[in-house]
Amino acid sequence: MNMFWDDYPQIKNELQDVNKIMIENVKTTEKYIEEPLTDLILSGGKMLRPAFLLLSSKFGNYNDKKHKNLAAVIEMLHMATLIHDDIIDESKLRRGNVTIQSKYGKDQAVYMGDYLFSKCFLMLSEDYSMENIKKISQSILKICIGEIRQHHFRFNKNVSLKRYLKIISGKTAALFAMSFTIGAKEADCDEKLSKKLGRIGYNIGMAFQIIDDILDYTANENIMGKSIKNDLKQGFFTLPLIYAILEGNNNLEDIIKKDSIDNQDVIEIINIVKNSDGIEKSKRLAIKYTNRAFKNIELLPESENKKIIYEITEKLLKRKY
Ligand code: IPE
Ligand code: IPE
Ligand code: MG
Ligand code: MG
Repeated sequence: MNMFWDDYPQIKNELQDVNKIMIENVKTTEKYIEEPLTDLILSGGKMLRPAFLLLSSKFGNYNDKKHKNLAAVIEMLHMATLIHDDIIDESKLRRGNVTIQSKYGKDQAVYMGDYLFSKCFLMLSEDYSMENIKKISQSILKICIGEIRQHHFRFNKNVSLKRYLKIISGKTAALFAMSFTIGAKEADCDEKLSKKLGRIGYNIGMAFQIIDDILDYTANENIMGKSIKNDLKQGFFTLPLIYAILEGNNNLEDIIKKDSIDNQDVIEIINIVKNSDGIEKSKRLAIKYTNRAFKNIELLPESENKKIIYEITEKLLKRKY
């Protein structure tokens, strides 16, 4: 785990337990399966989704074993999507380490992701409500649809804000929303409270992906610990670029008209986007989603956990990794 939770020792401790559960669950006699997965677990993700699940569950009847196991499932699910995402995005770096696809090849990485997905459902088969298993399956579907939609529209010159929002709502916000919702549901929170928590997760997730797409233009790869500026070459046009295109820039239009984008094009696009209002407008939209999350957080019953959710939501807007 990285330093993200250093100011919150209790959550940090709980997340360390979640880490142990994950490590236990990827143990197998086949060391060539266990090792890459253990490396990925130990390489220091922010563990946002399991943390949000645990925080959400504390608005109801928190059950230590049950909720930590569920948190482990959600983080493993997230890891599976990262392994597959890195294949599609041709990413070489993840959590500061060489990606599974780069180190062991794409074929192996496909199976590793599938292996993790299967493990998740095996873990879920033990003690969880059918309703929550259904919710988890639905959100995996949304992630797949989001990623497939993004891939389907790659290199599409007719960019659309609406389409972008639909993509990130599926590939990212759905998992954040689900983490909040099932944490609450498995703690027997009522429908109204669970929905409110889910809405908080959704809006945090939308802001999170927008910030991620901004960081793709502005951040440092070493600090991020993952490959950046990769989206463009794959033909994935994200929000800062969409805004720049909509501003109307002939040079930009000429570059994206092509069917492929080379290194020189990437440098040029980044320069144009940075000199446009694309980054600033994207930031404003991320703030808008964050404010929607804040509004819903304010409606939660008073507690220390409510305060933490608020602070983390704020912190995510300013994150550098
Ligand atoms: C990365 O998520 C994938 C996106 C939705 C942008 P995180 O930034 O939460 O990844 P880790 O778990 O900290 O590595
Ligand atoms: C994030 O994909 C969403 C999923 C992993 C499903 P991205 O491709 O936008 O995120 P990074 O930059 O690789 O983490
Ligand atoms: Mg991707
Ligand atoms: Mg990626």
